[in-house]
Amino acid sequence: MSTKTFKVKVKRQDEAASASYWQTFDVDYTPNMNVISTLQKIAAKPVTADGKDVAPVVWDCGCLEEVCGACTMVINGRACQACSTLVDDLLEEASVIQIEPMSKFPVVRDLWVDRARMFNNLKRIKGWVPTDGTYDLGAGPQETQEEQDLRYAYSRCMTCGCCLEACPQFTKDNDFMGAQIFAQTDYFNSHATGKLLADDRLDVIMGEGGISDCGNSQNCVQVCPKELPLLNAIASVGRQATIYSIKRFFTGKK
Ligand code: SF4
Ligand code: SF4
Ligand code: FES
Repeated sequence: MSTKTFKVKVKRQDEAASASYWQTFDVDYTPNMNVISTLQKIAAKPVTADGKDVAPVVWDCGCLEEVCGACTMVINGRACQACSTLVDDLLEEASVIQIEPMSKFPVVRDLWVDRARMFNNLKRIKGWVPTDGTYDLGAGPQETQEEQDLRYAYSRCMTCGCCLEACPQFTKDNDFMGAQIFAQTDYFNSHATGKLLADDRLDVIMGEGGISDCGNSQNCVQVCPKELPLLNAIASVGRQATIYSIKRFFTGKK
């Protein structure tokens, strides 16, 4: 009995500075495969559809349950997670599955990209709650259910980069921070203790690559796999920046 196969076209790049090229593989089909299991099959038998032995395809992944964001790649033209994207769904839209690395981040090798820019921006906005953990601080301030719901939604961000891949303002050669950082700024600035660093965050958000560079195209909202309320974040951070700039004007803070 012959095994059913499907074709996968992978954009490859041997190292950060080298040119990219495409290779096509025939992969044995099994029901309910995801894209990671497809790549694992290629890694186990790295032979192209025209019979050439090649180096196994390299990719990044961690959680395998759409939580870490590491396996984000562009599959059939959409930025999404390879661990939660199913082959059956992809084969319904096209007979060949096309996989390439995100285009807005430097390629390390093949489908593995360097997302450090996002993590560095989180450090720049002080994406944490400043607490002194050496003694009991007692109960925190009470929060409404609405406040908790909003922050829970923001907390689902997995720094995957889909919103930045889709954003026309975010390019490899500029400093735009993008929707992910605006959401995390609102996340920490709306926290009772996190807001102690709100001014520091707004200083960054009002600087180069900050909120004033957002073109409001809303592409980010369409693609976020965790459905973060990104429009709410952009509007909220914009309001905070306006109020803070008035405060800076009257206090003479530079
Ligand atoms: S609204 Fe448009 S420009 Fe602003 S962060 Fe989202 S995709 Fe980028
Ligand atoms: S906001 Fe959404 S798309 Fe952007 S990094 Fe976070 S989870 Fe990914
Ligand atoms: S491996 Fe973590 S999101 Fe896919």
